[in-house]
Amino acid sequence: MGTGTIKWGMARYDTIGTGYSTQRLPEPSWQAEIDDALSGCQRIINVGAGTGNYEPKAETVVGVEPSATMLSQRRSGTSVQGVAEALPFPDDSFDAAMGVLTVHHWSDRAAGLNEMRRVAPRQVIFVFEPLIAHNFWLTNYFGSMNDTETNAPGVEDIGEHLHITEVRTLWIPNDCCDGVAAAYWGRPEAYLDPAAQASMSYLSMMEPDERAAGIARLADDLKSGRWDHEHGHLRNQDKADYGYRLVIAGAR
Ligand SMILES: C[S@@+](CC[C@H](N)C(=O)[O-])C[C@H]1O[C@@H](n2cnc3c(N)ncnc32)[C@H](O)[C@@H]1O
Repeated sequence: MGTGTIKWGMARYDTIGTGYSTQRLPEPSWQAEIDDALSGCQRIINVGAGTGNYEPKAETVVGVEPSATMLSQRRSGTSVQGVAEALPFPDDSFDAAMGVLTVHHWSDRAAGLNEMRRVAPRQVIFVFEPLIAHNFWLTNYFGSMNDTETNAPGVEDIGEHLHITEVRTLWIPNDCCDGVAAAYWGRPEAYLDPAAQASMSYLSMMEPDERAAGIARLADDLKSGRWDHEHGHLRNQDKADYGYRLVIAGAR
C-alpha cells in the first residue's frame, strides 16, 4: 500500500529486511495458487525474490534480488544479485517469470515488466490492487495512505505491459502466516508488535513520527474497545479481500 510519504522505488531492504525470514513465511493458500499458475513450468525466474518465498518446486529456480540482507536469509536454491529492470539472462531463458509483492518497489516498472516478458513467455505476478487495499481499516490510522493509487501498480497498470490472461483473488485467511501489511486484519493487536511493523515495508518505511502516532491511536482504540465496536466482527471472520491479486500473463 503506497502512501504520500513512501518512496517505493527507494525500498531499503538491506535495512528493513533484517527480520524478514521470521515474520514473512509463505502463506499456504497463496503458495497453492502460485504453484497452480506455474504448473508445467520447469525453468522459473523469481524476480524480487527476497528470501525465496513462494518459489515452487521445479527443475530450475533462480531468484533475482538486489538486497544482500534478503539474499543472506534465502532459504535454499540459486540466486543472483540484480534488479528487475536489467535481468542478467538471455531472451527466453525460462518457462515462467514470477514476482511476488515486489513490483511496487521497482524504480522503473515498465522496464522490469518488459524484462520479465523478454526472459519468459509466462509471467505470474502477485500485486495488491491499491483502490481495494485502501479500504482496509488500518489505513484510517495513517493519513498518508490516502494517495495509494498513485504509487502502487494495480492490475490495470500491469496490463499496460503484459498480456493478462487471468486474475485471481488471493483471499487473506485470518491466520495468514505471511506478515504482509493486511495480514492481521482480524488480529489487530499484532500491529502493535515492533517486529511485525519492521517486516512490513508499508509501516517500516513510514516517517517514524507518523507510525508512532498511528500505532498509539490503534493501541488506545483497542484498550477502550472502540476498535472492537467498529470492527470486532472481523475477529471471527475466516478470510478477507484487501486487494491482493495474482496476475497471470502471457502463454499458458
Ligand atoms: C516485499 S519483498 C518480497 C520478497 C519476496 N518476493 C516475498 O514474497 O517474500 C520485496 C522485494 O523486492 C525487492 N526489490 C526492490 N527493488 C527491486 C528491483 N528494482 N528489482 C527487483 N527486486 C526489487 C526488495 O529488495 C525485496 O526483497
